[in-house]
Amino acid sequence: MRARRQLVAGNWKMNTNLKSATELAAGLAEKLKQDLPGTEVAICPPAPYLAAVSAAIAGSVVKLGGQDCSFEEPGAFTGEVAPEMLLDFSCRYVILGHSERRQYHAETDAVVNKKVHMALKKGLHVILCVGEKLEEMEAGATETVLDRQMTGSLASVTPEDLAKIVVAYEPVWAIGTGKTATPAQAEKSHVFLRQWIANRYNPQIAETLRILYGGSVKAANALELLQMPNIDGALVGNASLKVDQFWPIIEAGNTVGSN
Ligand code: 13P
Repeated sequence: MRARRQLVAGNWKMNTNLKSATELAAGLAEKLKQDLPGTEVAICPPAPYLAAVSAAIAGSVVKLGGQDCSFEEPGAFTGEVAPEMLLDFSCRYVILGHSERRQYHAETDAVVNKKVHMALKKGLHVILCVGEKLEEMEAGATETVLDRQMTGSLASVTPEDLAKIVVAYEPVWAIGTGKTATPAQAEKSHVFLRQWIANRYNPQIAETLRILYGGSVKAANALELLQMPNIDGALVGNASLKVDQFWPIIEAGNTVGSN
């Protein structure tokens, strides 16, 4: 068995409707009545469907996550979702700092950091997304960007709290584009991120921290990516929207995680 259990998480983004979300969740739950030894599975539906999806996965081992949360305590913040609300539906995870939030909602590392602290304080586990843009990759600035995002997003996060964080490396140029980082390219960034944790925290924490890869993961490339020693699972967009496309990725995670 690998030291770190894989996590295959589906980020549904602003997709599905009530019917398709419920059916997708139920279809997955049907296949996941029992734990898979090598991988944990989570889905992150749009917030309005959390109730229906939560009911549809009851009795299965599928875990639930939110796609974002507020850094404020509940109150007058129109349109926001508080960590407490995610916890009401038994969410274990919340995705924070996704590149689409950074890009379309001007989320800075400082904002992501505030969200990380609030989510942890309320008891959620965080899937923290980092990743460079195309021009940054082409300029050879990947590690500079990752360093800046990790430093900013994890400011004042204690070693104990880091145990409740999963990092997701999602190169922006690979998201929804069909362009995947090669396994070697992804592994290089994952090694950098693990080393970053070892330097800033300590080597033991770095060894246990899970680092997921995200960006056009699909059945055809999942196994070769997940087989890389520092890739501990996948954060999947498009291919998580159909059970028959998501399932082979879960199987790849289970295969790798069980070896
Ligand atoms: P795609 O798998 O659609 O490229 O999306 C990746 C992603 O952004 C997951 O958070």
